Amino acid sequence: MKHRRCTPVVLLGTGMSVPDRILTNKDLEKIVDTSDEWILERTGISERRIAPAGEVTSDLAARAGMAALDAASVSPEELDMIIVGTNSPDKLFPGVGPMVQSMIGASRAGACDVQAGCTGCVYAMMLASSGIRAGFWKKVLVIGAEALSRIVDWKDRNTCVLFGDGAGAALLGAGEGEDGVLAAEVHADGSLSDYIELPGGLAAHPATNETVEQGLHFVKMKGNEVFKYVNRVIPPFVRDLCDHAGLEVGDIDAWIFHQANHRIIEGVMRRLDVPLQKAVINLQKYGNTSAASVFLALHEGLAEGRITRGDRVMLVSFGAGMTYGAMIIRI
Ligand code: COA
Repeated sequence: MKHRRCTPVVLLGTGMSVPDRILTNKDLEKIVDTSDEWILERTGISERRIAPAGEVTSDLAARAGMAALDAASVSPEELDMIIVGTNSPDKLFPGVGPMVQSMIGASRAGACDVQAGCTGCVYAMMLASSGIRAGFWKKVLVIGAEALSRIVDWKDRNTCVLFGDGAGAALLGAGEGEDGVLAAEVHADGSLSDYIELPGGLAAHPATNETVEQGLHFVKMKGNEVFKYVNRVIPPFVRDLCDHAGLEVGDIDAWIFHQANHRIIEGVMRRLDVPLQKAVINLQKYGNTSAASVFLALHEGLAEGRITRGDRVMLVSFGAGMTYGAMIIRI
């Protein structure tokens, strides 16, 4: 094939959708042996959203996706591709992507899911921008969507206080001039697969009465191991990514971390010697929404004017796998 210049990628719009129902830390005190003080001090989370019965991941994803399209005045028929990062799909198959395709009437678009733990957001953004750069697609809707409340054990205080439901979206398109994606990189270490997993119900442990009794269909997490791992790998990783882009960490205008824990964000920013004010943080309102969280923070950062046109924004995430990844994008 004749060599062509890479097509520049631009961010055309963002959107989000969260369920109306709020579950506060005080509400959780009535469900498990925990306290508002413990959750706030250890995580920074005050409340999270919970999808009502009957509402599934694809409902949230479709609403967030439509909001991003509306923000960019792009119609669903113009989409070439929809990529959804999720760890709590409606069903194992078909994926959330094809559900969204049909719900929003994206008649020309291909659609699929990416399952890479919470890092699914960065993997999906990287796949979308690679497809645009290569000339395969002109407009790609990238969505992170979760209904995690359906797969957490509401008797396990180690996990149920952390997670929330929601969806966020970013519309990427082929542009002209400079490429908006300045650098991106993803990693995986499957030897740490037991740090965060949902072990039951599939090939390894097909559903039986025993797997259900043992709660293998719920999220299991070694929270403290994850905490130490992330604090060790993320600071040098994002510093190197800035290097690859020819930037200093100080050149990044806004930092959007996976919204898992305030202490992780604080710790990484301290190690990088970057003021915490440069991080967009909304985990206090939504908890950890896994593959959706970076999109929720990006959308709110833009909506509140914390991020403006021309800003260099670092998107960083980490999660089950273990996986981690980051993208530097000029807005
Ligand atoms: N309420 C009250 N006490 C709780 C609790 C809760 N909801 N959850 C755990 N505890 C207790 C533990 O049982 C433990 O008690 P013990 O010392 O008597 O055994 C104590 O609090 C400390 O537990 P530990 O797990 O060491 O706490 P921590 O400071 O590491 O904080 C997390 C726990 C989960 C908040 C933290 O490890 C974390 O955020 N990890 C990263 C998780 C993450 O990012 N996951 C998502 C990646 S996608």
